[in-house]
Amino acid sequence: MNILLNSTFFSNTLTAWYIDSKRDLPWRNITDSYKIWISEIILQQTKVNQGMSYYLRFIERFPSVKILAQADEDEVLKYWQGLGYYSRARNLHKASKQIMDDFGGFFPSKYQQILKLAGVGEYTTAAICSFAYNQPFAVVDGNVYRVLSRLFGIETPIDSTAGKKEFARLAQELLSKTEPGLHNQALMEFGALQCVPVSPDCNNCCLQNSCKAFELDIVTRLPVKSNKTKVQYRFFNYLFIENQGYTFLQKRTSNDVWQHLYEFPLIESDHLLRFPELSENEIFKQLFHTISEVEIYKISNPMKHILTHRVIMAQFVSIKISSENDTLNNYIKVSFDKIEKYAVSRLMELFIERMEI
Ligand code: ADE
Repeated sequence: MNILLNSTFFSNTLTAWYIDSKRDLPWRNITDSYKIWISEIILQQTKVNQGMSYYLRFIERFPSVKILAQADEDEVLKYWQGLGYYSRARNLHKASKQIMDDFGGFFPSKYQQILKLAGVGEYTTAAICSFAYNQPFAVVDGNVYRVLSRLFGIETPIDSTAGKKEFARLAQELLSKTEPGLHNQALMEFGALQCVPVSPDCNNCCLQNSCKAFELDIVTRLPVKSNKTKVQYRFFNYLFIENQGYTFLQKRTSNDVWQHLYEFPLIESDHLLRFPELSENEIFKQLFHTISEVEIYKISNPMKHILTHRVIMAQFVSIKISSENDTLNNYIKVSFDKIEKYAVSRLMELFIERMEI
């Protein structure tokens, strides 16, 4: 039996389930738009379990828009370290300055104003508007795509323009006009706990009788993704240069992955370089010219680091030098015990942890 879904029935069933089953999370039952914004940006980057400690630490250090805006970007990045996708942290910082300049430090409350903040897209705007101000904007995130595609048996790819439109319209039609915030939270939580990607427990589901995918036995095939994005491989040879308890770092400045994070001197190539290739590489030669003793004493195993649309294959080349030269002066000289003060990528962090430097 498949009962046609009426939006009031849907919303009531969902919110009743939510009140019974929801997790108690620190960004729930609050209406502080600043905190809701921070939590949503963190949760775009990681799952709830890991996100919680980041959220609590972030809010403790930066409890208001003003304090975030006054902070140094390096410190904001440090609080983000390990989450990845550092442009999100840079945008948080940038947006806090926008709020100081354009709204006197008060978080804006209109959809169009919020949408203009750096790093804030339609999803985050709808989340803030509905959770903080109970405004009727439907959120559409990965959870919502999954729940709606299954309930209605929709096979339109969710990463296509047509799919995005179709799901946005449906989510808006279904949205409770009286309790949009509660409805949105409930729908996302339902996707996170009940209508999960793999092996959902359909036999214990309050919406089973209304679920088209269950009726057609296509639950695990939905949602459909067209998966057109191609993965790009890159090869990073990092030089961990050691001289009497010091090493060298640089700050990534170009518009590329890990912008504004710190890293060891880098040779990017089209494959990971082995010993003879390294010593013949022009950047390598330039780095160490005039130094009498340059000992490559270890090359790490290749490390694979997966980013959105990119795979970075990396190795760390450990090198001891007997003196320094003018090229190395262009890098930041850091003693081993100060290295943890610098915001670095997860890849760098893993190496540093293993080295125990
Ligand atoms: N994922 C994204 N936003 C969330 C929220 N507010 N609660 C739980 N999980 C989420």
